Amino acid sequence: MKILHVTCSPRGEASESYRLSQNIISLLLKSNPAATVINRVIGGGSLSPIDEPYAISQQASADVSVLGSIARSDLLIEELQRADVLVIGTPMHNFSVPATLKLWIDHIARVRRTFNVGAQGKTSLLQDRPVYVAVSSGGRFSGVTPRQPDFLTPYLKAVLGMIGLHDVHFFSVEGTAMGPDAVAVTRQKTAQALREHFSAYPSVEANDPSNQKLLTP
Ligand SMILES: Cc1cc2nc3c(=O)[nH]c(=O)nc-3n(C[C@H](O)[C@H](O)[C@H](O)COP(=O)(O)O)c2cc1C
Repeated sequence: MKILHVTCSPRGEASESYRLSQNIISLLLKSNPAATVINRVIGGGSLSPIDEPYAISQQASADVSVLGSIARSDLLIEELQRADVLVIGTPMHNFSVPATLKLWIDHIARVRRTFNVGAQGKTSLLQDRPVYVAVSSGGRFSGVTPRQPDFLTPYLKAVLGMIGLHDVHFFSVEGTAMGPDAVAVTRQKTAQALREHFSAYPSVEANDPSNQKLLTP
């Protein structure tokens, strides 16, 4: 089993979202010890915005270049296609995903590669697989008394669904700005929710092998 781990916090491995996504990976590895993890770190400016040929290709009937963003997009899409499970570690930035995660999405949500556009609108091209999203936020955005709007959750559900990923599970550590005691309580609650989830779904099945064969370079 292959796990693709996408992390985007500017705080790297010190970040809360990285910590939470690592906890998810540990639980996945517990039930699938032979699984391999591919770490795709996109925080810290490692991913450039999409370029002009890429933008043109999204409105044309074919790709206009094999260089620049298109080449980067090919690589990121192949990485995603090969993965049996996708784990995303992300902070909330201004009620939504950080710009770096949006950039990754701009590279992997690509017409003719991960979705098509036709008379019925957009149709997905990726095979579904489990997606775990580990979110960290300074304040609360869920529960009965959220303190702010949440565009992150509905946005990720919509855009991942557009390319065919519907089995999406969200876990969060909310209120990191509320002091260490509050964070400790939230971490504990989230750890409990994770344990419950993974005891209900102890193992994640690998993708259809034919899909993987197709994608071997
Ligand atoms: C640019 C920026 C925007 C932020 N916007 C929000 C926000 O809208 N809501 C929120 O609760 N926290 C917000 N935060 C706080 C982070 O979500 C919080 O510090 C989080 O724990 C960081 O996670 P990390 O350690 O994984 O980077 C923002 C932080 C930054 C740097």
